[in-house]
Amino acid sequence: MQAINIGILGLGTVGSGVIKLIKDHQKKISGITGRQLVIKRAVVHNPDKKRNVDLSGITVTTDINDLINDPDIQIVVEVMGTVEIAKDYIERLLRAGKHIITANKDLIAIHGSQLAELADKNHCDLFYEASVAGGIPILRTIVSSFAADRIIEVKGIVNGTTNYILTQMSQNNVSFNEALKSAQKLGFAEADPTNDVAGIDAAYKMIILTQFAFGMNVTLTDIKTTGIQKIELADIKQAEELGYKIKLLGIAKLIDKRISVSVGPVLIPASQPLAAVQNENNAVLVTGAAVGETMFYGPGAGELPTANSVLSDIIAVTKDIVMKTTGSRFNEFSQEGKTASKEN
Ligand code: HSE
Repeated sequence: MQAINIGILGLGTVGSGVIKLIKDHQKKISGITGRQLVIKRAVVHNPDKKRNVDLSGITVTTDINDLINDPDIQIVVEVMGTVEIAKDYIERLLRAGKHIITANKDLIAIHGSQLAELADKNHCDLFYEASVAGGIPILRTIVSSFAADRIIEVKGIVNGTTNYILTQMSQNNVSFNEALKSAQKLGFAEADPTNDVAGIDAAYKMIILTQFAFGMNVTLTDIKTTGIQKIELADIKQAEELGYKIKLLGIAKLIDKRISVSVGPVLIPASQPLAAVQNENNAVLVTGAAVGETMFYGPGAGELPTANSVLSDIIAVTKDIVMKTTGSRFNEFSQEGKTASKEN
């Protein structure tokens, strides 16, 4: 079976998850795409760091040129974070004709349009399902399943760290700082958790959701953003006595054909489904003129859920590559596809 060679930028929580999932589900993926996925190279800041993942068969270096100049590599997965360095790397990779998959919401929220233009110019895919709501396949759902509908509102819990903190404060009476430390240990929080607790991470995700749902570009300065830093245990307990839960919500809605986007703590009646979303889980409510209100729920952060979203992009790009190179789709329901899928 032919291989698709992949490069990976960053071997942190999500990068390690991607390697594990490819190893574990190789046969199933081959059955769906007709190609074997091979992680050929990884570029990292510190190649000597001990990592909790089997890197056998992967060349680990520090030089981005090792990915740019390797003609065998067709797809590069960027899971290193940061904005400016990642942008520079991705621009150079796109110019070299590599398809890009990224989980970097900061980068896409700030430079997404510009990168999408560059990707188009170079006939490359640029996919970022993992950038919003971790393991929930929300971007692809909006693009495909709402294609014939008119979306009126998108709202939800799109930051796992703050939802984890609010849940822990409510259920275990822990302080804000204790809960934040535990979210960092579990790998949900950003390297610098300021963006999580100040609502910026959620605002970045709302920028991307607004672009997908309404085709409108907004920037951070258009979004009224409030974090949860000032919420105390007493506020949470008082809200609960009155029958409410406090949740950090992102809301994007059309008002007289204009878009209004905000992020901030909201009192939600305890009987509503959003109030029941706990810990690092996320939930996104999409309201369409035709379909009405729909809700998508799942883990908003974490190694394997986020890696699974990256894998869904890798599979989509691989299918595109097969289509472009062979002129037809791989038939996953053919005998070959069926056999391979059943083995896993
Ligand atoms: N820090 C982010 C969160 C990670 O807590 O939601 C996933 O985007």
